[in-house]
Amino acid sequence: MILLGLLALAAAQCAAASSTTAAGSNYTAAVGWYAGYHEPDVPLSSVLWTKYTHMTYAFAVPTVDPGAISLAESDAELLPQFVAAAHKNGVKAGLSIGGWGGSQFYSSNLGSASNRTSFVKSVTGLIQKYKLDLIDFDWEYPGVQGIGCNTISSSDTQNFLAMLQELRASPIASNITLTAATAVTPFPATNTNTSIIPQFAAVLDWIAPMVYDLSWNWTAGSPVIQRALPSSPLDDSCFAEVATGEGLQGRGSAKSAVEAWVAAGIPRSQIVLGVPAYGHSFNVNASTAFLPSSSSSSANNTALQLAPYPFYNTLNHTVGDAWDGTGGTDICGAYEGPGGTWDFWALVDAGYLLANGSAAAGVPYWWDACSETPYLYAMDKGVLVSYDDPRSFAAKGAFVRANGLAGFSMWEVGGDPKGVLLDAILSAPTNASLAITAAAAPAATSTTTSGSGSNGAQRRRRVDGRTLALAVLIAVCWMAP
Ligand SMILES: *[C@@H]1O[C@H](CO)[C@@H](O)[C@H](O)[C@H]1NC(C)=O
Ligand SMILES: *[C@@H]1O[C@H](CO)[C@@H](O)[C@H](O)[C@H]1NC(C)=O
Ligand SMILES: *[C@@H]1O[C@H](CO)[C@@H](O)[C@H](O)[C@H]1NC(C)=O
Ligand SMILES: *[C@@H]1O[C@H](CO)[C@@H](O)[C@H](O)[C@H]1NC(C)=O
Ligand SMILES: *[C@@H]1O[C@H](CO)[C@@H](O)[C@H](O)[C@H]1NC(C)=O
Ligand SMILES: *[C@@H]1O[C@H](CO)[C@@H](O)[C@H](O)[C@H]1NC(C)=O
Ligand SMILES: *[C@@H]1O[C@H](CO)[C@@H](O)[C@H](O)[C@H]1NC(C)=O
Ligand SMILES: *[C@@H]1O[C@H](CO)[C@@H](O)[C@H](O)[C@H]1NC(C)=O
Ligand SMILES: *[C@@H]1O[C@H](CO)[C@@H](O)[C@H](O)[C@H]1NC(C)=O
Ligand SMILES: *[C@@H]1O[C@H](CO)[C@@H](O)[C@H](O)[C@H]1NC(C)=O
Repeated sequence: MILLGLLALAAAQCAAASSTTAAGSNYTAAVGWYAGYHEPDVPLSSVLWTKYTHMTYAFAVPTVDPGAISLAESDAELLPQFVAAAHKNGVKAGLSIGGWGGSQFYSSNLGSASNRTSFVKSVTGLIQKYKLDLIDFDWEYPGVQGIGCNTISSSDTQNFLAMLQELRASPIASNITLTAATAVTPFPATNTNTSIIPQFAAVLDWIAPMVYDLSWNWTAGSPVIQRALPSSPLDDSCFAEVATGEGLQGRGSAKSAVEAWVAAGIPRSQIVLGVPAYGHSFNVNASTAFLPSSSSSSANNTALQLAPYPFYNTLNHTVGDAWDGTGGTDICGAYEGPGGTWDFWALVDAGYLLANGSAAAGVPYWWDACSETPYLYAMDKGVLVSYDDPRSFAAKGAFVRANGLAGFSMWEVGGDPKGVLLDAILSAPTNASLAITAAAAPAATSTTTSGSGSNGAQRRRRVDGRTLALAVLIAVCWMAP
């Protein structure tokens, strides 16, 4: 009887779901990407399952053979454990296919009817073998070059749709959640006909525009001196004063991404906001980092005021946290410098942030009210960091609610191991002033022109195969005594 009483008590507590659980948050989708290669640092037993409705394992990778999507670069042994742990916790288990370093053969895999059929067979094989509930297509990007050596075709968008239609028609995938991680601008039009976009809404459960990594221009020969703009802005209208060539003006924001996708024909209820548990760093010298009026009082950091969007040298790459690489050769054989990314946990570990995400005493901090994201200045490194904190996650959550979006998807689960950012977005109140006005376009009209390549520069740094290999190496080194 005592046991029954305890069980009843436990059940009652579960029913009174807290606002910091996925169940209590009212989001249809509270999603995280789990990077399998960070498992040594982020064991499955440490994952805060109650804060998620769905979790997606990253990554499986299309190979030159459309019938052979590969888990060779991920841990094929870990995936079944991941699925079992998710299911034990009532969380839908997904697999993400592609990524920044894993999109080389998407275009050719989907390039012909017979290739698509092989690809679909490979996907349904994975669904059955691993008992998956969700497949996420992280193609970076249909019709737009990503890492540099991807196969690419002007028919990518229509081939992507044709594959999804064929997959959806399969009895094995008919009840599976199908999603796509996308750029902040809609898939490129096929022969200037953007009315193909609404058809994706019939076969995908949702799209997740990846609203991060928006502060860099990595194009070779890009202007050396640029402005350090927010990596994951809610709104980017504040950059209007930034001259063309000075930065990445109009590269996109949560607001612009949702406006563009809605206008192209994806209903709000099928949009999940991609949010980052990491930020980007820039080498900004102290004379540039602060407003001139405050530079005299350099003995007292808290008295210094950070300058908005200061200039930095794009060629002088910063080194990020332990999960960031120091540079190396990517899958295309090209050299890439360090990424300069800082995960939320690492900003806390380094002492720049307190455990609750507030800036530590003496760390210069600036809240950019327009982008609704913070900056901090690491005095010891001469490095400015654009990142996300509980306040910016609360703003993103308020935006999701105000616009009736399905929820959020965070890259990556391990970036916020204590759920500090998650709690903020899960318990975010709505904020009507963040509502956008864009209405979905009727299916047969073309209202948007796709960004001509500006999204091609958008990077999803953490999925670089090279970063991946380095991360595994670093993790192994960490584990060694
Ligand atoms: C979720 O919905 C319930 C019922 O409508 C409401 O009482 C609660 O405040 C909502 N929670 C959040 C976080 O919006
Ligand atoms: C179909 O896949 C094969 C590899 O098996 C590839 O060589 C070919 O180019 C693909 N077809 C198209 C049209 O992309
Ligand atoms: C889909 O249906 C199959 C067959 O009924 C079932 O085994 C599987 O669990 C279902 N999957 C989901 C995600 O509902
Ligand atoms: C664009 O595509 C839609 C549906 O695929 C079709 O109905 C429409 O006729 C096309 N419009 C043009 C101008 O090609
Ligand atoms: C990035 O730099 C290149 C080379 O200078 C330039 O052509 C391109 O327009 C820049 N992209 C953005 C989004 O600013
Ligand atoms: C530093 O500046 C802050 C803000 O002006 C002030 O409150 C604080 O007392 C100063 N600390 C020292 C050690 O001067
Ligand atoms: C600081 O950085 C700015 C912008 O990159 C540069 O113009 C300036 O010369 C630098 N100053 C010093 C003292 O290095
Ligand atoms: C974070 O923790 C510090 C130290 O306990 C506290 O002073 C600060 O108010 C907290 N910040 C927030 C936003 O709660
Ligand atoms: C690059 O940045 C670092 C750290 O801010 C600085 O010490 C160094 O002088 C910079 N190098 C160049 C060539 O600007
Ligand atoms: C709602 O959003 C607006 C616009 O970003 C902001 O100014 C305001 O402070 C927000 N209100 C709340 C209660 O957070």
